[in-house]
Parts: sequence; C-alpha cells; structure tokens
Amino acid sequence: MTTTRPTALVTGASAGIGAAFAELLAQDGHDLILVARRAERLDELAARLRAQHGTACTVLTADLTDPGAPEELMAAVREQGLTVDVLVNNAGMSGSAAFADSPWSDLAGEIQLMITAVTQLAHLVVPEMKARGHGRIINLSSLAAFAPPGESLLYTGIKTYVLGMSQALDMELKPHGVHVTALCPGFTHSEFHDVMGTRDAASKLPSILWQQADAVAREGWAAVNKGKPVCVPGTVNKVISHGMRPVPFRAQYVLGRSMNPFKN
Ligand SMILES: NC(=O)c1ccc[n+]([C@@H]2O[C@H](COP(=O)([O-])OP(=O)(O)OC[C@H]3O[C@@H](n4cnc5c(N)ncnc54)[C@H](OP(=O)(O)O)[C@@H]3O)[C@@H](O)[C@H]2O)c1
Repeated sequence: MTTTRPTALVTGASAGIGAAFAELLAQDGHDLILVARRAERLDELAARLRAQHGTACTVLTADLTDPGAPEELMAAVREQGLTVDVLVNNAGMSGSAAFADSPWSDLAGEIQLMITAVTQLAHLVVPEMKARGHGRIINLSSLAAFAPPGESLLYTGIKTYVLGMSQALDMELKPHGVHVTALCPGFTHSEFHDVMGTRDAASKLPSILWQQADAVAREGWAAVNKGKPVCVPGTVNKVISHGMRPVPFRAQYVLGRSMNPFKN
C-alpha cells in the first residue's frame, strides 16, 4: 500500500491513552498502524476511524512481552510497504504484587514490554526517520518518574528509564529532524487500574488528580511537534513534578512510603 499521508504506529491502541492518540492522529491527517493484543478492539477502532476521517488503518496484533515481537511487527510493516513517520510507544501496564511475591516471568514481561520493546521499536524506526530528515517519537513515561517512589513496583524504575532514554535520544536525533518526547501523565482515565487491580483505591483519589486520555494525548502531540523532550501534561501534574525536585531523596522515600495508595 502506498500513501502520501504520514503514517503513525501506535502501540497499545486498543484502550486508554493509545486509543486517544489514534483518534487524535487520525483527525490530524495521519494513516495508522494500530498495535495491541486485542484484535477485535483494534478492528472496531479502525472501522470507526476509516468512516469518520478516511484514515487508512492497518491492524497488527502483537504481544509486546514476546522478545521477538518488535522485529516481527516491523517486518509486517515493511511487508505492507509502509514507513513509520510517527511512533507512539504507549503499550504498558503495571503489576501490583510485591516484588518478592511476583514470578520472574511477570517482572521480565514488564521489562520487555515497557523497556526493551520501547527501545527496540525506536531503534527499528530511527534509521529511516533520520534518512528522511523527519520523525516523531513519543514514549509513554509517567509522573511516577518524578513522584516519590512506589513500594514494590518496578514501574517507577521502568518509567524513569523511559524518561532518561527519551531525553538522550532526543538530543542525538533532533539535529536530524527527529523529535523524541517522554510523555509523563499522572492519573489518567483508562483501563490501567482495572488491569492493575487497583480500581477501588484509584477511585478514592481526588478528581483534581485525574485527566482524560484525550487531553494527555493532545498535550503530548503538541510537545513533540514543538521539540520538547519532556511533557508533563496538566497543571496539577506539572506542580507535582516541579514540587518534588528540591525534596531530598530520603524525604521522597518517606513520603512515598506513607502516601502510596497501591501498596499491598
Ligand atoms: N492511566 C494512567 O494513569 C497512566 C499514568 C501514567 C502513565 N501511563 C502509561 O500510559 C500508557 C498507556 O496506559 P493506559 O492508561 O492507556 O492503560 P490501558 O487503558 O490499560 O491501555 C494499555 C494498552 O496497552 C496495551 N498492552 C498492554 N499489554 C500489552 C502487551 N503485552 N502487548 C501489546 N499491547 C499491550 C493494551 O492492549 P491489549 O490489552 O489489547 O494488548 C492497551 O491497549 C502505559 O505505558 C502506562 O504506563 C498511564
């Protein structure tokens, strides 16, 4: 398939922030490659975006905890004659069990999904973006990368990696027209807490802490186009992220221990 419209690949497009990105990028004139495990969800979204915006949508199912998935995904993209102008590395989840109680396969899956696949997909698309002199990559980090650490969760460390890696990549690639942004949302309405099993605790948090997924996607997309390597969407989240910087690590640790609503 050949197209003159730019193409965006969105991982985790079957729900939440990824689905909001797909909608936004379709409205903004992009064709889409939609990736997740749930084919029916992706097919429904693709049908709607085709009807509403005339978007050419390619649905590719993949389990990104599988170490072979990024290579297979990009091979399928190339087979269809597509090139990726925009990569939204969004697929993610968090376990809620204590580190010591989690089977290694669960922890390894989180690392594969949110560190290795994110890094490898960027590595697979960057050479063509660099050669074309244009590209946009949004990596989903989290406010967790700035907030006090959460007990037992690998999530804070994973999202801190994504933040630092995105900044370094942006510095390397910006001279070649490729912008990279770490998007760091706070609490966002999506299926995240249903998957994590923390919906009850999450629903007790004050509404001021919550954002809609489409607002997060809009702010992230504006940030990457402006060349901002880090985007913390929403005023409250910005205040939290700035407010934590001068707090000594020891105090952040104590604060994280006392405040973490998801500890088991
Ligand atoms: N919601 C929040 O409060 C929040 C805050 C900060 C950061 N984030 C980050 O934002 C990103 C999106 O989260 P969300 O809130 O939109 O969560 P969500 O509603 O649960 O959506 C997660 C998406 O990731 C996909 N996914 C999960 N595991 C996958 C796997 N093994 N292989 C392929 N796709 C997989 C899911 O699709 P399938 O199940 O169909 O595979 C789904 O499309 C994540 O990286 C998350 O860490 C979320």
